[in-house]
Amino acid sequence: MKNLKYYFKKAQKEKFAIGQFNFSDWSQVKGILAGAKNLRSPVILGTSEGESKFVGLRQAVAMRDILRKETGLPIFLNLDHGKSLDYLKEAILAGYDMVHFDGSKLTLDENIKISKKVVAYAHKKGVVVEGEVGRFGTDASRLYTEKFEIKEEDLTQPQEVLKYLLATDVDILAVSIGTFHGIDISGVSPRLRLDRLKEIVNNPTTGKYDIKVPLVLHGGSGTPEEDIKASITLGICKININTDIRLAFAKNLKLQLDTNEIVPYKYLAKAINAVQIVVEEKLRLFGSENKA
Ligand code: 13P
Repeated sequence: MKNLKYYFKKAQKEKFAIGQFNFSDWSQVKGILAGAKNLRSPVILGTSEGESKFVGLRQAVAMRDILRKETGLPIFLNLDHGKSLDYLKEAILAGYDMVHFDGSKLTLDENIKISKKVVAYAHKKGVVVEGEVGRFGTDASRLYTEKFEIKEEDLTQPQEVLKYLLATDVDILAVSIGTFHGIDISGVSPRLRLDRLKEIVNNPTTGKYDIKVPLVLHGGSGTPEEDIKASITLGICKININTDIRLAFAKNLKLQLDTNEIVPYKYLAKAINAVQIVVEEKLRLFGSENKA
């Protein structure tokens, strides 16, 4: 099987994005995998710190391994939004393919300092690192009862990207271009700031398209489809989805639990199928069908 770096390069060259789908348990993984298998798509399974503590780092790795073996598909595992070097090291030692260091609450200099340590440790073990510059509006992938406005100061600053990339050797970079994690009361996610994405990929010093590092879009749930497509043509190579899956899973589970069905493999089957439907929609939108 080709490694993750190969697939990021392929995504950059062929202009598609690899979907990262977060999970909290085996049922969701089954739905995600059914979608990826059906469309012959590479896929990244994601766990936040909270999700990984619930699932177990080693258990998540074992799930990936058995599915890789069974399907032969390029299935990768990412520790999403790791906030501490120690926890990222644990994930790396457990066998994750990739770790995302979220230094968004730190000053840029602090972010750079710890990112360098993460990269030094991860690269020695052959693990890919995702960095982050800028801030997403919310931390958690859930339904919010209020309305969110993206603050201008939270968007990724092109000059900060340059400084960060010159100082660190991250493999892939998350940028804030108007999304937030979760879906707010309006149910409609804001339009992407494609103008800002263009400013980021066109190096502000040279004015040329020479930011070579593949870029990541977080908070992909609910984002308008045309914006997703446009962002991929501009250099987004990985898109993270969590809330849309959580929503499909929970809604269908509730419906099933309201019937007299008490057999878990029966009431879970519908929720798993709902996850698969969402995943297939996203994989088609991201253009990663038949890219495995
Ligand atoms: P959503 O919950 O908005 O899809 O965001 C997921 C995410 O970005 C995980 O890192």
